[in-house]
Amino acid sequence: MTTIVQNLSTKHLLGIKYITAADIRLIFETAKSFKEVINRPIKKVPSLRDVTIANLFFENSTRTRISFELAEKRLSADIVNFSASSSSVKKGETLLDTVNNILSMKVDMVVMRHPAPGAPQFLADHIDANIINAGDGTHEHPTQALLDAFSMQEQIGDLAGKKIAILGDITHSRVALSNIFCLQKLGAEVKVCGPPTLIPKHINQLGVSVSHDIRETLQWCDVANVLRIQLERQDIQYFPSLREYAQYFGINRKLLDSLNKEIVVMHPGPINRGVEITSDVADSDHSIILQQVENGVAVRMAVLYLLAGKR
Ligand code: CP
Repeated sequence: MTTIVQNLSTKHLLGIKYITAADIRLIFETAKSFKEVINRPIKKVPSLRDVTIANLFFENSTRTRISFELAEKRLSADIVNFSASSSSVKKGETLLDTVNNILSMKVDMVVMRHPAPGAPQFLADHIDANIINAGDGTHEHPTQALLDAFSMQEQIGDLAGKKIAILGDITHSRVALSNIFCLQKLGAEVKVCGPPTLIPKHINQLGVSVSHDIRETLQWCDVANVLRIQLERQDIQYFPSLREYAQYFGINRKLLDSLNKEIVVMHPGPINRGVEITSDVADSDHSIILQQVENGVAVRMAVLYLLAGKR
């Protein structure tokens, strides 16, 4: 029997690497309760009524930013939103100065997305608020991995012994690393698949298997988590053309229908339709992409609520 602990082992969520399997299970149990709350006619609870949260986004985001903001509002927190494009960062202010100025306004928690790997750790080392990493460069995106694993569990039950494939641009993906840590902590077997140029050379040292054969990988797995080709992070050309990528590594209906099993298809978004996944798969019954987004709010409510208890 799995024991559910009462408290997180940490006051920050900097990455899945730094939390325990017990932390993850506690977040999931709490998220289940919050999922019930957000499906009620009155979707709000007063849990964070005395808490002020700053959402600092130094990089673009649609899902994560809206999902955190909604989670905070559902918990009755006070919120301040910051985006780098309209701030004094443009005038040369340092990250620490920016954040210290915001904290002087009595902020308790900081949700931060930043292009530099380690930026949330830097903040946690210098300021007193709870820090939540909403994606730091190519490093980690812990709440995405939590909502992914939570959504997988809803579909296929306990992840121990289950086979999960992560497909696509592993090299430039923070979702991949956080997913690997999270799934392994929950006892799943993980395989990464993509062109050799988009898979880090020594990734097998993390205990994952590697394939460059999409069909073999799909036939092996229970769940395929398809990642976006991150063209904005690719400083050189990693494959000849998007058309060729779609032909050899894209998921389409014909490929899924040729398997002798049903698999669950996921994507963290945003999707490059027709590149890593075709619309007839993304919008099909195999896909749980929109359930992932719905679960994101409940999982982020759980993270905020549990970390607020560590203040
Ligand atoms: N999945 C994800 O992080 O999406 P956004 O970049 O839109 O937040």
